[in-house]
Amino acid sequence: MESLDQDQGKERVILVSVSVNILDDLDAEEFALLASSAGAERLEHIYAQRVKPDAKLFIGSGKAEEIAERVEALDASLVIFDHALSPAQERNLEKIMKCRVIDRTGLILDIFAQRARTHEGKLQVELAQLKHLSTRLVRGWSGGFEQQKGGIGLRGPGETQLETDRRLIRIRMIQLKDKLDKVQQTRLQGRAARQKAAIPTVSLVGYTNAGKSTLFNHLANSDVYAADQLFATLDPTLRRLDWDGIGTVVLADTVGFVRNLQHDLIESFKATLEETLEATLLLHIIDSSSPDMLEQIEAVEGVLKEIGADAPVLRVYNKIDVSGDEAKIIYARPHEPERVYVSAHSGAGIDLLKKAVQECLMGQRQAFDLILKPIHGKLRTQLYNLNVIDSEHFDDQGQLHLHVVMAPQKLEQLIRQAHLSLDEILGEQAQGFKRPLEEFEIKS
Ligand code: GTP
Repeated sequence: MESLDQDQGKERVILVSVSVNILDDLDAEEFALLASSAGAERLEHIYAQRVKPDAKLFIGSGKAEEIAERVEALDASLVIFDHALSPAQERNLEKIMKCRVIDRTGLILDIFAQRARTHEGKLQVELAQLKHLSTRLVRGWSGGFEQQKGGIGLRGPGETQLETDRRLIRIRMIQLKDKLDKVQQTRLQGRAARQKAAIPTVSLVGYTNAGKSTLFNHLANSDVYAADQLFATLDPTLRRLDWDGIGTVVLADTVGFVRNLQHDLIESFKATLEETLEATLLLHIIDSSSPDMLEQIEAVEGVLKEIGADAPVLRVYNKIDVSGDEAKIIYARPHEPERVYVSAHSGAGIDLLKKAVQECLMGQRQAFDLILKPIHGKLRTQLYNLNVIDSEHFDDQGQLHLHVVMAPQKLEQLIRQAHLSLDEILGEQAQGFKRPLEEFEIKS
């Protein structure tokens, strides 16, 4: 994938925001950030107002001429509209402005193309880009601009496929769909194996730039790419962790949300959100320092609802080093955390976050005294691996007495998985467990 930033310097871009309706919630700053995420050098941001979009040009012809003059004066190579344009509108605007014109969808796809890292993510992006391009590809589409290699909206498949005809694109799209089916099949198998083993999945979701990747790194102690750019993450990045008292947990980082993400774009990238749908627990990461915090929370929760994600949500207010909040957990009910305040930067509140996740997944920890016979060695190893054994000693009959502090659900799960009886291991304490097994099982 050719990157303009490295090869030719930043692309010289004019941004256009049009408010068609007084109620239009234009977020010019976010749009500009999106464009710079894609590697654009903003020469000028032009604003316009219209009662309703023009069918041919979206904007009025006078405004189009005005932008064309600025393109020439500033030697811009690209104009990006913060709206969805029809293929015909894009072409008509290109004729007047004598440079490439892309819309918001093209811009977002370009960012996706640059950020996709996993095989599946790349296939998804290529497919979505081809779909977007195929409706725009007509003979002479790039009339005069074809010498220009790469650039926003032309990267990835666009660059090579633009030179081919529609038939080849259709074939490529069929191949991609086949490949995607296979990749998805493999992923589903992986997920099925996790479910069988009752491994909880914790997914980080949130508005773009909220700090998901940074927090993910903290929790996973890994170095997933984090940058002050929108969409620094596209593919759900998975890590297997061993957390004290919980055991194995799969942590999933997901693509950031933005407002006004068109529906078919959401559809195209639904696979990147699938881990979200299957999660045991969702961590909704929120930028507590953003003036748009409430709108962003609403946008994310709206999309979660739309895609049918129904796992419990723990809200994580990040960036408290900027917002000035203190690190804390807010409970809805005892041992039912609702919000946690953290800073992924300073590390403040990260321990609280782990505690809250643990409480959400497992309920409160309790102390138990267990008696294990020599044949129960495997259970002892599992408890040891969970780091929940407080003390242990052998009695005269060679039985092992263990004092453990852990979530009752997890303890019961382990005992039952080992096909042992609760009474045998727990003695009188087993009374507290006389409930149907399902209630204790970890959903995954
Ligand atoms: P997308 O991939 O766009 O969805 O972003 P993300 O939510 O994964 O955000 P990311 O982790 O890339 O962080 C975005 C920016 O916020 C980076 O510049 C981080 O360094 C910064 N950041 C993350 N957490 C904190 C924090 O607690 N405090 C401050 N001050 N900055 C933070």
